[in-house]
Amino acid sequence: MLMRSIEADNISAGHAIRVGNLSKRFGPVTAVDQISLDIANGEFFVIVGPSGCGKTTLLRILAGLEMPTEGSIDVVVPAGSTRPVSSVVFQGDSIFPWMTVWDNAAYGLRMRNAPGAQIKEVVGHYLDRTGLTKFAGHYPHQLSGGMRQRVSIVRAFANDPEILLMDEPFSALDAQNKLLLQEELLQIWEEHKKTVIYITHSVDEAVILGDRIMIMTAHPGRAKTILPVPLARPRSVMDLQKDPIFGDLVYQIWTSLREEVQHARKLDEARGCKA
Ligand SMILES: Nc1ncnc2c1ncn2[C@@H]1O[C@H](COP(=O)(O)OP(=O)(O)OP(=O)(O)O)[C@@H](O)[C@H]1O
Ligand SMILES: [Mg+2]
Repeated sequence: MLMRSIEADNISAGHAIRVGNLSKRFGPVTAVDQISLDIANGEFFVIVGPSGCGKTTLLRILAGLEMPTEGSIDVVVPAGSTRPVSSVVFQGDSIFPWMTVWDNAAYGLRMRNAPGAQIKEVVGHYLDRTGLTKFAGHYPHQLSGGMRQRVSIVRAFANDPEILLMDEPFSALDAQNKLLLQEELLQIWEEHKKTVIYITHSVDEAVILGDRIMIMTAHPGRAKTILPVPLARPRSVMDLQKDPIFGDLVYQIWTSLREEVQHARKLDEARGCKA
C-alpha cells in the first residue's frame, strides 16, 4: 500500500503530509517525477508550474483519486478524528448543477450523516461568511461564475476536512472578483488554519496566499525549488501590493517559472515536429 493515513495523538508540531519519492506515469508520459516533500500541519502550501507539468496529477494522488506509480504518501490525522481526510475544490466548475446552493454546500456533511442542526449551523455560517445566504435556494445556473466558485469553497470548508486541496479555484474569474475571493479565503483560513494545498498559475496569488511555494519543472514534473514566503499574517491583498518583499518574491518566482514555461514550449514544439 503506497498511501496511508497515520493516526497521531499530537500533530500540532508535525507534518500533515509526507510525500516520498513520488512518481506517476501515464504510459510513456511521466507526469510526476520523484517528488519528495513534507507539508506541515496548518500550512498553506502553494504549487505553481507550467501547464501540463503534473500539478493536478499530484493533487489527485494526494486526494486518493489516483494511485502513484512509485513512492509513498503519508497523511497524518489526529487520533480518533471523525473528519474526512481531504476535500477537493477542482479546476473549473465543480458544483452539482441539479442542487441548490444550500444542498451543494451541505453535500459533504449529509454524506457523513451529520446531524441536521450541525449542517444548519455550519452551512449557514459559511454561506454568511461568503455573502451567499440570500442565494441559498438558487441553482448554479442562476449564479455568476464567481458565486459558483464561492459555493465550491463553502462546500469544501463546510465538509471540515483535515486537508483542503484546491486546484486553480479562481482561475476563471475576473480580476476584481478574484481579489475579493482571495481576501475571503485568507480570512476563512486565518480562522481555521487548515492544511491547504493550493495550485495556481498566478504568481501574485501564490505569494498572497502561501506560506511556501513549490515551483515545478516542465515535463517531467519535478520539484524545482520550494520558497518560503516571509510575509506576516494576517495579510491584506491590497496592502501587499505595496510591500517590497512581495514584489521581490513575485519577480524571483516569475524568473524561475519563465525558464520552465519556455522549456515546456520547446518540448511541445519538438513533439509537434515528430507528429
Ligand atoms: N488520466 C490521464 N491519462 C493520460 N495522461 C494524463 C492523464 N492525466 C494527466 N495526464 C498527462 O499528465 C501530464 C500532467 O497533467 P496534469 O493535468 O497533472 O497537468 P497540470 O500541471 O495540472 O496542467 P494545467 O496547468 O494545464 O492544469 C500531462 O502531460 C497530461 O497529458
Ligand atoms: Mg491542472
